[in-house]
Amino acid sequence: MTTTAPRPIRARDRVLPHPPYRLPVLGDVWDLHVTDSSQWGMRGAQRYGGIYEREILGARITYVSDPELLREINDDALWSKFLGVPIRDLRSVAGDGLFTAHNSEPNWARAHAILAPSFTAPAMRGYHATMRRCVGELVEHWTARAGEWVDVPGDTNKVALEVIGRTGFGFDFESFTRTEAHPVVSAMLRALTYINRSAYSHPLVERTAFRRQRAQHLADVALVNGTIDEVIAARRAAGAGGYGDLLDRMLTVADPETGETLDEKNIRNQILTFLAAGHETSAGVMAFALHYLAVHPDIAARARSEIAEVWTGDELDFEQVAKLRYVRRIVDESLRLWPTAPGYFRKAKADTLLGGRYPFERNEWVFIVLLQLHRDPLWGGDPESFDPDRFLPERVRARHPELYRPFGVGMRACIGRQFAYHEIVLVLATVLREFDLTADPDYALRVRETITLKPEGLRLKLSRR
Ligand code: HEM
Repeated sequence: MTTTAPRPIRARDRVLPHPPYRLPVLGDVWDLHVTDSSQWGMRGAQRYGGIYEREILGARITYVSDPELLREINDDALWSKFLGVPIRDLRSVAGDGLFTAHNSEPNWARAHAILAPSFTAPAMRGYHATMRRCVGELVEHWTARAGEWVDVPGDTNKVALEVIGRTGFGFDFESFTRTEAHPVVSAMLRALTYINRSAYSHPLVERTAFRRQRAQHLADVALVNGTIDEVIAARRAAGAGGYGDLLDRMLTVADPETGETLDEKNIRNQILTFLAAGHETSAGVMAFALHYLAVHPDIAARARSEIAEVWTGDELDFEQVAKLRYVRRIVDESLRLWPTAPGYFRKAKADTLLGGRYPFERNEWVFIVLLQLHRDPLWGGDPESFDPDRFLPERVRARHPELYRPFGVGMRACIGRQFAYHEIVLVLATVLREFDLTADPDYALRVRETITLKPEGLRLKLSRR
């Protein structure tokens, strides 16, 4: 009896659909969209299918949105997080913070063990009053502008930044009282914009053609780092331990496994990480949800009757937030259509034949196109329509398990998921209770991509109810 050796897995044997007119050397470079890469990734999936590729100067970018293939790719035993461009470039500011750490860096496991308890439901109870104060400032801000058009993504950004700044580190950015953004906020935004733009650039180009922007970028990073170091020093001087926030835990708690604490530089990296990962994503969801609520008065009315039933006293209590099931479904449906972190990268842990068909060598990577996964025909009906009842428990139970992944997967999934749901539901419930929303009849939803997604130019008129 003869046995045949298994065929070796070779990347060059992988044949995937790709845009037509592939050029020698340049590959599919003509088909690369830098400013709307996620929406372009989705259109590509609609044209070429649930797995396809673009080849850019010899590098292969594989786009996956087929839920069946995700059964393997999302399995931490087979594939793991990969730091793709532009996440890798964020390391220049956030170093080995949780989001940008490599899987193998010891600081990831240490920080995860120390910080995970700060993101559980009981921890949310400790942040609730602070979150409510921040939302109160948003209400005051919008009350003062009643009847005017308000810049919704700009203002939801402010509230989400205040929430993470104050619950995380006791830092008040004074977003609603300053006429201009806090210098740290401006520096941080410029730094993220620079990183996003320069992600596909060459260092030499940055040192020459973009010399001025690079110098500004370095100054921005220095300002942000300096301010965070001052916050840490002030907390140490005041005596950490009594604040119950993330900074307290980082300064006082040791990894239960190893007994080690986080070092000074890593604490700074974590603070930067939470500021960056923890506000634009949530703020974008609030803004998208307010857009859909303004253009679907029937959905807003249903949410308001739930809010009236649950919110019986003066303030919305911690326990009541979890009872707002319909508002939560509105959040989920907003995140389905516009997952504000629009994708994630995974790399193969070993040579593998993905789906029994596509050879991937160890360490080759793919990008998950959430915008398309979340519009897969398996969702049924018209996937473009906004229908919070897609998230009714019985429909969630019947759904393909890989069809909804706005917070990523596995051990590197979003640590701030509960935190995000709590603050977004709190904001939406408060705004719906306090204001009537009027949509701009001339507005058609446009989605702007930085590293996250937001509804560009969205403005609403709010009047007190
Ligand atoms: C709706 C809001 C949010 C969305 C859509 C979101 C989405 C995501 C996604 C997709 C990942 C995985 C990225 C990857 O695999 O490369 C992630 C990771 C992460 N998120 Fe979020 N996030 C949100 C809110 C937050 C908040 C509020 C915080 C903090 C307060 C936060 C902190 C983090 C951190 C630290 C990680 C890295 C976790 C690790 O690798 O250990 N996120 N998030």
